[in-house]
Amino acid sequence: MTTLTTPPLAPLLDRLFGEAAAATSPAMAGFSHEERDRLMRSKTEYLEFYGRLKELWLPVSRETGALLYMLAQSTGARSIIEFGTSFGISTLHLAAALRDNGGGRLITTEFEPSKVARARGHLTEGGLIDLVEIRQGDALQSLSIDLPETIDLLLLDGAKSLYPDILSLVESRLRPGALIVADNADHSPEYLERVRSSGGGYISVPFAEDVELSMRTG
Ligand SMILES: C[S@@+](CC[C@H](N)C(=O)[O-])C[C@H]1O[C@@H](n2cnc3c(N)ncnc32)[C@H](O)[C@@H]1O
Repeated sequence: MTTLTTPPLAPLLDRLFGEAAAATSPAMAGFSHEERDRLMRSKTEYLEFYGRLKELWLPVSRETGALLYMLAQSTGARSIIEFGTSFGISTLHLAAALRDNGGGRLITTEFEPSKVARARGHLTEGGLIDLVEIRQGDALQSLSIDLPETIDLLLLDGAKSLYPDILSLVESRLRPGALIVADNADHSPEYLERVRSSGGGYISVPFAEDVELSMRTG
């Protein structure tokens, strides 16, 4: 029995993944592939890009969600940082692992106020809000202060172009063995180069279709 696979969370996630699937396609149609790729790689237009997508869920896949739970639970994570909350689907998976590890703290970051409100509602419905601090605003600012002494797991799932910058903000707190899951990291070549470079302080591999899984070595 795990928090992930039992009520109230299991039926809630079924419902939320269903709602997300029903909502995603039409609004994305406003972007051509080229425009989307360009905006996803931009370090200056990310607020505009995600602002235009504020109605969209953009969640991790079901598989990545399960992976997040497994990694956080099996490593006994107690201290987690998430870049990119959206409506809280990945947050629910990570917080479930904290619950099953006996508690902890998850700091998650989102600049869209309407998304923060929806995520808060979902975390409350899932009985996990007590484990989560949602920091509203640009993560470049909200993660530059008041971080835990040590961090066990980092999820990167906000603006792809900022992955290297967010990593720099938290890097000194990552304990040896800490895990980093970067969703859709192929949109951030700079990030991939950094975590894959020999002597860079990480072991890093592409995992499944769209995840880069990295471990801090020291
Ligand atoms: C791909 S979605 C996150 C999906 C979420 N992890 C899930 O699985 O449900 C990316 C989110 O990051 C937010 N975001 C992007 N850049 C950000 C930044 N610099 N600071 C805070 N939030 C940001 C966007 O508004 C968007 O909601």
